[in-house]
Amino acid sequence: MRRAVYPGTFDPMTLGHLDIVRRARQTFDEVVVLLAVNADKTPLFPLEARLQLVRACVEGLDGVVVDSHEGLLADYAQQKGATAIVRGLRAISDFDYEFQMAIVNRKLAPGVETVFLMPSEEWSYLNSSIVRELWRFGGDYSRLVPEAVRRAMDHLQRTAS
Ligand code: COA
Repeated sequence: MRRAVYPGTFDPMTLGHLDIVRRARQTFDEVVVLLAVNADKTPLFPLEARLQLVRACVEGLDGVVVDSHEGLLADYAQQKGATAIVRGLRAISDFDYEFQMAIVNRKLAPGVETVFLMPSEEWSYLNSSIVRELWRFGGDYSRLVPEAVRRAMDHLQRTAS
C-alpha cells in the first residue's frame, strides 16, 4: 500500500490542484489531500468550509481521502505511514520555496520522499490567489475551479454583496 500526502491550503481548491490529485493517484494507491496550516496565510474560507469543498471536489475519486492537520506535515506523514509528500510544480518560480520545504521535511521525516508533479500546462499559471482576486472583483473564475467551488464562491459573492 503506497500512501501519499498532498498538502496545501486549498483556499480554494482549483482545477490545477485536482489535476495533481489525479496524477498522484496514478502512482500511489492512496492519496490523502491534507488541509495543512500555512502560518503566513489568512484563508478566505474557514477550515471547515475548505474541508467540505475539497471533499465535494474529490467525491467519486477512488483511493482519495481528505483530512486536516494543524501540526507539522512531516509528523502527519510519518503517523499515517505515508511514503511520499506530493507537491505540484508549475513553474521555476515555485522551485525555491518547494526546495526549502522538501529539505526541511526530509530532515524531519527521512523516510518520506517529496515527489513533484507537473500539472497540465493548461493550469501552469493558476493559483488560488488569482481565483480569489477574480472573485473579489467580479471576474469569471468558473473555468478555473471545480463545480462545487464555483457554487460556493458564487454563493459567498451573493451573500457578501
Ligand atoms: N494548481 C493551482 N494552484 C496551485 C497548484 C496547482 N497545481 N499547486 C500549487 N498551487 C498554488 C496554490 O493555489 C497556492 O496559491 P496561493 O498562494 O495563491 O494561495 C500556492 O500555489 C501554494 O499553495 P499550496 O499548494 O496550497 O501550498 P501552501 O504553500 O499554501 O501550503 C503547506 C504549504 C501548508 C503545505 C505548508 O505550509 C505546511 O506543510 N504546513 C504545515 C506545517 C509544517 O509542516 N511546516 C513546515 C514546512 S517545511
